[in-house]
Amino acid sequence: MRLKDKVAIITGGAGGIGLAAVQKFVEEGAYVVIADYNKTAGIQVQERFVGEERPVLFIQTDTGERTSVESLVNKTIEKYGRIDILVNNAGTTKDAMLVKMTEQQFDDVININLKGVFNCTQCVIPYMITQGSGKIINTSSVSGVYGNVGQTNYAASKAALIGMTKTWAKEFGRKGIHVNAVAPGFTLTPMVQKMPEEVLGKMEAAVSLRRLGKPEDIANAYLFLASSESDYITGHVLHVDGGIVM
Ligand code: CAA
Ligand code: NAI
Repeated sequence: MRLKDKVAIITGGAGGIGLAAVQKFVEEGAYVVIADYNKTAGIQVQERFVGEERPVLFIQTDTGERTSVESLVNKTIEKYGRIDILVNNAGTTKDAMLVKMTEQQFDDVININLKGVFNCTQCVIPYMITQGSGKIINTSSVSGVYGNVGQTNYAASKAALIGMTKTWAKEFGRKGIHVNAVAPGFTLTPMVQKMPEEVLGKMEAAVSLRRLGKPEDIANAYLFLASSESDYITGHVLHVDGGIVM
């Protein structure tokens, strides 16, 4: 019970890595709020937890829309009165070579992956400051650390999250708020399943541990950074990538 009675918002919690984190956080005793724009998937996950000691609450949210995030935070506070953990996990891809990338593809990815994290953190942080505690986890990527062919927009957004993570760690450390990032490698979720098979094969072959990540591998890192086991860690980027690049 490493998160006993903690209130956690997990964005993008209706699928992929976020869903694995929802399951793990509930097992560890947290009250989880799923903020996802996929209503069908979100409701299905919420129904799965009906009758549990700590049911999850799904709030349909588009993290790229400020008013939607404000409503998420207001509803969470109304229900639980506090927010202990924010996992900024929601993200998206619109891959294209730079020469073919449209302005719309660039803007869409920046709006969700970068502005969305700004929106969620800026709306949650006043509550954490009042509480004098909080754990914020931002999901970066191996693409943000090392770059990736076809991902100008995505790599830029994920690299920017590292800058924001370190800035917020410096701004809020004295308020008792920890801010860290996880940089996952290629992990088997719907996001990766959209990749051309031969590109994914090459990526897998480059992984030192010779396998793609499982959503649980990343959720374990979220759990560590959300728990008191990481109480002397802030501003850190935890690479969970099987050793793809070192
Ligand atoms: N490394 C080196 N060269 C590459 C490459 C790579 N990873 N990917 C493509 N190329 C090369 C191709 O071999 C090709 O070379 P030639 O012109 O010599 O034939 C050239 O680049 C153009 O490639 P395509 O023919 O595939 O071009 P396209 O315009 O049809 O598609 C693309 C481009 C959309 C980027 C497509 O290649 C693609 O989807 N690639 C995968 C991108 C990727 O890795 N996305 C990760 C998604 S998962 C994720 O984002 C999670 C995370 O955080 C890691
Ligand atoms: P996914 O595409 O499988 O799931 C993403 C979830 O986020 C979905 O449920 C989707 O509905 C939700 N979502 C997307 N945009 C949203 C928005 N604006 N508002 C609310 N919800 C939104 O993706 P996956 O693989 O689970 O990725 C989770 C995070 O991990 C993302 O930030 C991604 O960029 C990052 N990541 C993923 C890697 C991978 O290989 N799968 C590698 C490195 C980072």
